[in-house]
Amino acid sequence: MMSKAKQEAAMSALNVVPDSGAIGLGSGSTVAIFAKELGKKIGQGQVDIKVVPSSYQAYQLAIRHSIPLTNLDLNPLLSITVDGADEVDKNLNLTKGGGGALFQEKIVASASDELHIIVDESKLVDNLSTKLPIPIEVLPFSLGVVKRKIEAMSIQVKVREAKRKMGPVITDNGNFILDLKFAKPIEEPGEIATQLKMIPGVIETGLFMGMTTQVHVGTETQSYILE
Ligand code: 5RP
Repeated sequence: MMSKAKQEAAMSALNVVPDSGAIGLGSGSTVAIFAKELGKKIGQGQVDIKVVPSSYQAYQLAIRHSIPLTNLDLNPLLSITVDGADEVDKNLNLTKGGGGALFQEKIVASASDELHIIVDESKLVDNLSTKLPIPIEVLPFSLGVVKRKIEAMSIQVKVREAKRKMGPVITDNGNFILDLKFAKPIEEPGEIATQLKMIPGVIETGLFMGMTTQVHVGTETQSYILE
């Protein structure tokens, strides 16, 4: 769904794109708007940018909008990454993975000097897990034991089911996504992220802690920046 608020957020992030070099391209519907606008800027010769895509979706967006591609072997250091988020808390920690792309997104973000997040205002919360569960990527082999261990932490676990395909969502990396529902919003997301990551079989979590440089928040009429 194309919304004015997402457009406002995407346009704000366009202002922080450097004149040249390699940047990270996140995933999601807001990033899709950003990619379209970035493609226009490149096409008009205003910037000389290549992107490292963070998912098959991002890869296809780059192809569609004639954005040159690179990768983390050729460009292990990126100036910025522009990505979306599902929730942003008061300390600018994030929940990501609504589109199932959290693992590569986190790697691309970690390769970047700056992480710029583009969201509409509905994504802003005091604490993460207010409106949405926390996704984690899990090795299929480990599903049973990971599920048992997380349930023992009094967290509800749901294997994300695919739409228009029977069975679980398979990520771009061939893994499953589990959506974790907490009894209440998370007060200490850093502790939870560490605990989850310690469980063998948990490949990555959708909790992005202390990585955000700026959040470009779009409304129906304008945008503003949190940092
Ligand atoms: C995908 C993501 C997305 O960035 C997140 O879900 C936001 O997407 P949208 O801009 O469509 O709301 O983390 O895994």
